Amino acid sequence: MSQDRQLNNAELLSVLDWYRAAGVDLAVGEEPIDRFAQIPPAPATLPQRAKAMQEPGQTAAPAAGRAMGGDPGEARKLAASAATLDQLRTILEGYEGCSLKFRATQLVFADGNPEARIMLIGEAPGAEEDRQGKPFVGRSGQLLDRMLGAIGLDRSSVYIVNTVPWRPPGNRTPTPEEMEICLPFLNRQVELVAPKLVMTLGGPAMQTVFKTSSGIIKMRGKWEKVSIGNHDVDALPTLHPAYLLRNPAAKQMAWRDLLSLKQKIDGLGPG
Ligand code: URA
Repeated sequence: MSQDRQLNNAELLSVLDWYRAAGVDLAVGEEPIDRFAQIPPAPATLPQRAKAMQEPGQTAAPAAGRAMGGDPGEARKLAASAATLDQLRTILEGYEGCSLKFRATQLVFADGNPEARIMLIGEAPGAEEDRQGKPFVGRSGQLLDRMLGAIGLDRSSVYIVNTVPWRPPGNRTPTPEEMEICLPFLNRQVELVAPKLVMTLGGPAMQTVFKTSSGIIKMRGKWEKVSIGNHDVDALPTLHPAYLLRNPAAKQMAWRDLLSLKQKIDGLGPG
């Protein structure tokens, strides 16, 4: 078969199907880029990068090449150096220690109100979040908005983040290594927001925050005092909205959890 022959429609569709099966579901440019052919920039040392980030409006200096697995110690130091959420965002924008970053369109840092008393922690951005740069803006985000609305909340009364701020290819669950390298940044984000209550959405977020390997069906609906970074907070695990979309019968469990959250918020008094 000639290499130059134009593919017919059926062949083009089967190529697209093949890409989709391989987890490619988003075109980020018209022309392919061979990133393996690009020469990695010289690694910047931690002090250089920290200095770059102290200058207002600066993003971090280029980090070590295309890191496939960052150094958790360095991630902790970088995260701890952020005195504000804006600084933390800038640090993450320059951070290259998590390989998810190289397949994602952009950082998905947070949405909602950083002054809110309630923080929601999801798993990872999906395709729509990756496009818009905001967590929970796709179908499961729309359901989440309706769930919040049912107990009188909206995005001005909560702050929403994910355990990892870049979309895993093909919407797979982040690996333990990816979660570990992103954890110091999540911890710092929680410390800086200092919410009064946390609700985790789905199994992976629950396992990260509650430091457990238990399943979500067993754990959901039970409040526990947890330490996230150095912030101690009451936290409630509930089901992920994407799970509820696939299993509508489970909505009654989520509804009980939402009522429990509402009761706890009412117990905080006006704020
Ligand atoms: N699912 C998540 O866990 N987070 C998002 O931001 C979107 C979907």
